[in-house]
Amino acid sequence: MNVNQLKLIHFRNYENTSFSFDSNCIHYLYGKNAQGKTNLIEAIYFLSHLHSFRTNQLSSLVMKENESLIIEAKVESNKQNEHLKVVVSHHKKHLFRFLNPVNKYSDFVGIVNAILFCPDDMMIFSQSPKFRRRFIDMELIKLSKTYTTTLSHYQKILKERNLALKQNEINDALIDIYTDQMIQDEKIILNQRNHFIEQLILKAKQIYPFFSSEKEIIDAKYETFVSIDDDLEENLIHAYQKSLAKDKLYHQTNLGIHKDDIQFLLNGSNINDVASQGQKRSFLLALKLGLAQIIYEKSHQYPILLLDDVFSELDDIRKKQLIQKLPLNMQIFITTTEWMDPSSFGSRPVKFYKIEKGSIKEVDHGR
Ligand SMILES: Nc1ncnc2c1ncn2[C@@H]1O[C@H](COP(=O)(O)OP(=O)(O)O)[C@@H](O)[C@H]1O
Ligand SMILES: [Mg+2]
Repeated sequence: MNVNQLKLIHFRNYENTSFSFDSNCIHYLYGKNAQGKTNLIEAIYFLSHLHSFRTNQLSSLVMKENESLIIEAKVESNKQNEHLKVVVSHHKKHLFRFLNPVNKYSDFVGIVNAILFCPDDMMIFSQSPKFRRRFIDMELIKLSKTYTTTLSHYQKILKERNLALKQNEINDALIDIYTDQMIQDEKIILNQRNHFIEQLILKAKQIYPFFSSEKEIIDAKYETFVSIDDDLEENLIHAYQKSLAKDKLYHQTNLGIHKDDIQFLLNGSNINDVASQGQKRSFLLALKLGLAQIIYEKSHQYPILLLDDVFSELDDIRKKQLIQKLPLNMQIFITTTEWMDPSSFGSRPVKFYKIEKGSIKEVDHGR
């Protein structure tokens, strides 16, 4: 997957800027602080996810003193050319594919599959479980249509069930119907989430040692209220039967996948309790690169990798190790404040760009 052309109009500090990028090439974007490096990463991420990783406020993305923004891109996805356009105007997103309007977000999200690593991502380890669930959901939504429809159905039924539990006269038959529907959805979601984490940590375990001089062992476990085994349906039925009295007492659904979590472990302990910043960074990088591998196996193409400020705090040896570990045949964007010696990239295709005040200039590095 590659973004070959990108045009930003009134996106953050980009007034009207066109970019052309090479397929399967590392794009090394460097420049001083506050010049627009992360903004560029954010635009590609937005094209993929239809939301930003920095703000929930669509209006912050629009260049100050303007009404609307445009992100337009020519993309190569599964050897097909795509023309995508997003217009944000008056707090609304308008989507176009080959200039035809796309009405459903789910028909647009994932056409561009981009994976992001940014320093704030490390908070995934310390934040509340909601953020870890969001991480799984975001990736599975891009990977599986069944997951997307099942999850939104589950959320709808959960709301209905909670509403039914708040009535003065609780309708037991109705609660039963909702419980049954939740169980059917949860069977699908739990299996997919559990399988995803198992696969992901398997890949990450192979990658992690490249970033770590110590011999730590990393692991991850999906945590839920039932055991995920061959008797999953019975386990769910039993759990809901046991919790029904409590649900009625508290007027809410106390059990469900909306409360699940992922445990990330370093040498058997919760990573948050034992790991240094460097270890957390390496763990997260291993997860992200593992994710790229999973996407490749599933879709036969690598996602675009967005590495924002990934080099800060890494010494030169680790930087080189990271570059060597990046998969070939992958379009990669790296932002940093420092110039890097082109020889660090070995024989990999790499292009250097200087970002300054919302403009981009390719720099010839003489290789
Ligand atoms: N909506 C906006 N309109 C105009 N400029 C913006 C907007 N949002 C952010 N900026 C500007 O973008 C710059 C920050 O860009 P960013 O990509 O985060 O920097 P960096 O190069 O350090 O990654 C700042 O100068 C900021 O004022
Ligand atoms: Mg930045």
